Amino acid sequence: MHREDFPMLNSDIVYFDNGATTLKPNCVVRSMVDYYTKHTSNIHRGDYDAAITTNKLYDEAREVVRDFINCNSSKEVVFTSGTTASINMVVFGYMKKHLKRGDEILLTKSEHASNVLPWIKLSEEIGIVIKYIPLNEEFALTVDNVIKSIHSNTKVISIAHVTNVIGDVRNIEAIGQICKEKGILFHVDGAQSVPHMKVDFRKCNIDFLSFSGHKMLGPTGVGVLVGKYNLLEDMDPIFFGGGMNQFFEADNRYEFKNSPVKFEAGTPPIAEVIGLKRAIEYLMDIGMDNIHKHEVELKKYMVSELEKIPNIVMYNKNSDSGILAFNIMDVFSQDTSIYLNHYKIYVRAGNHCTKMLKDEINIKNTVRVSMYLYNNKSDVDKLIHVLKQSKDIFKIVI
Ligand code: ALA
Repeated sequence: MHREDFPMLNSDIVYFDNGATTLKPNCVVRSMVDYYTKHTSNIHRGDYDAAITTNKLYDEAREVVRDFINCNSSKEVVFTSGTTASINMVVFGYMKKHLKRGDEILLTKSEHASNVLPWIKLSEEIGIVIKYIPLNEEFALTVDNVIKSIHSNTKVISIAHVTNVIGDVRNIEAIGQICKEKGILFHVDGAQSVPHMKVDFRKCNIDFLSFSGHKMLGPTGVGVLVGKYNLLEDMDPIFFGGGMNQFFEADNRYEFKNSPVKFEAGTPPIAEVIGLKRAIEYLMDIGMDNIHKHEVELKKYMVSELEKIPNIVMYNKNSDSGILAFNIMDVFSQDTSIYLNHYKIYVRAGNHCTKMLKDEINIKNTVRVSMYLYNNKSDVDKLIHVLKQSKDIFKIVI
């Protein structure tokens, strides 16, 4: 789809590392170049034409996000530097204030570092207890296992909507409903889902949703935290400085502004927010359901072709996303990725920041193909062709 919009695809690369970051279409790059060359200015400070243009685009970006993920109001949309920052803000701005020793948090062992480490740190600081919901035989999370893991002390469920190695799509609508009924806070890490499928904040009863711009055709350095407004009102900022305060005095009195501004201290990533706005508009034009369908079809095709190669081990054939983790039997995953790079096929190898997944799948490292809207059958055919000749791998890698 739309390959002509992506300058990096003018070369003969196959880009299969979309879980790490995605390529950028011309329109996103152009929107940022326009900011830097036609209307550079800070936001919410200037009364001149360039500043008015920039203010308008920045404020519109919140509306675009609101529409995209269907939250109640643009006041629930906070721009951050990315998923990691968003999760840290939730954990140290809200949870630290509202949880106490012994309160239980449910995670899974297929979460990436950003949805585990902040919780571990908080547990060190205030004594919350982290529990891991068991995965099923396909390393996926079932609603049944969520229900079985909930106890009277369970206060928060924090899970990825789509995990970054297994690519299982969690039933966040059902889990959100359970959280609502049981008064459990529900944080969804949308880093690997928001770029690829329709995510409905309200319908899924999400309390906090985190995602990144650079994994959805947007620039690096920008992400989003969406939170229910009443929760954001009761959440402390973790950064303090310009823009977010009403006043401060020499006797230490101060007052912060309301959400979202109180969470955006200092000059925000203005060009990046403008780029993200353009990226979301681009995705919405294509349609999130079309993107998801395209990726799932392509993955099915890839799996069916890889099954014909005897020395390939796949770990998540059936997960309903464009992510496939595999290894060439007896070959270290990074050797495979170096081999594939020789043929200009870009994948990621290693533990993918998901360092506890080894406890579930009994293997530390995998090769990961993660697809996006611009991948096509010919990309898959190239990968298959190269993997079929992998008996030559060590001639190339060494
Ligand atoms: N979490 C990112 C990935 O999966 C960095 O590659």
